[in-house]
Amino acid sequence: MFFRQLVREAYGCASYIIGSEEGGVCAVVDPLMDSERFFFELKASKLKPVLVLETHTHADHLSGAREFAKMTGAKLYLSGESRAKFSFNPIEDGGKIDLHDVTIKAVHTPGHTYDHMSILINEQKLLSGDTLLIGDVGRTDLGGSSEALYRSLHEKILKLPDEVTVHPAHVGAHHYLKGGTSSTIGVEKQTNAALKVKSKEEFLRYMEEGWPPKPEGYEAIIAINLGKKSLLKAQSELLKVGGHMGAKKT
Ligand SMILES: [Fe+2]
Repeated sequence: MFFRQLVREAYGCASYIIGSEEGGVCAVVDPLMDSERFFFELKASKLKPVLVLETHTHADHLSGAREFAKMTGAKLYLSGESRAKFSFNPIEDGGKIDLHDVTIKAVHTPGHTYDHMSILINEQKLLSGDTLLIGDVGRTDLGGSSEALYRSLHEKILKLPDEVTVHPAHVGAHHYLKGGTSSTIGVEKQTNAALKVKSKEEFLRYMEEGWPPKPEGYEAIIAINLGKKSLLKAQSELLKVGGHMGAKKT
């Protein structure tokens, strides 16, 4: 199996390429707007992109998934729970897509967002999106639900075998996470602060405290990523806002 993690260092956003070398095809997951790196890697790999998947509607960066699908002709798959306004192929919980000898399975894991799905590759590698991060879990204060996240973690993610490797959508210091770009279910069970809590009540308290400020313009980013607002419209609205231009008095 071909497996590549691409991290945009400045923001710690991780995207993935999963491919079948035997079949000469691949899927990309959570591509960013700057797709040059994808094309560089794809060219080197000689794999043809036939699928694009998103783990969830991102609130901190613009998604490149639609653009990538348009440019390459790859089919776009989102969770069946997505409220996107553009056309896509919905994938239900437990739904599988065969990529030649590689099997991609959707594991719906709402919590970080209502439409979050983790992606299990060949029952061995979990693209955990922002549900399970290294040492922590994804925030739920941008339209998610801590209760739903608790259920997703305990009823689905932690039921996977300890050897399954974990590959999140965000890594590194920019997200207040400790080092490393991948982990395993077993290691996270032992070391993850959010999983060490003893009860659901304690987890809900943990989720209420200490989160960083909300990303700037996150509501506009969500609207653009759902196809509810064009990038151009969002930009023109921002320009109309104007603001403090350097005068001493406000
Ligand atoms: Fe996210």
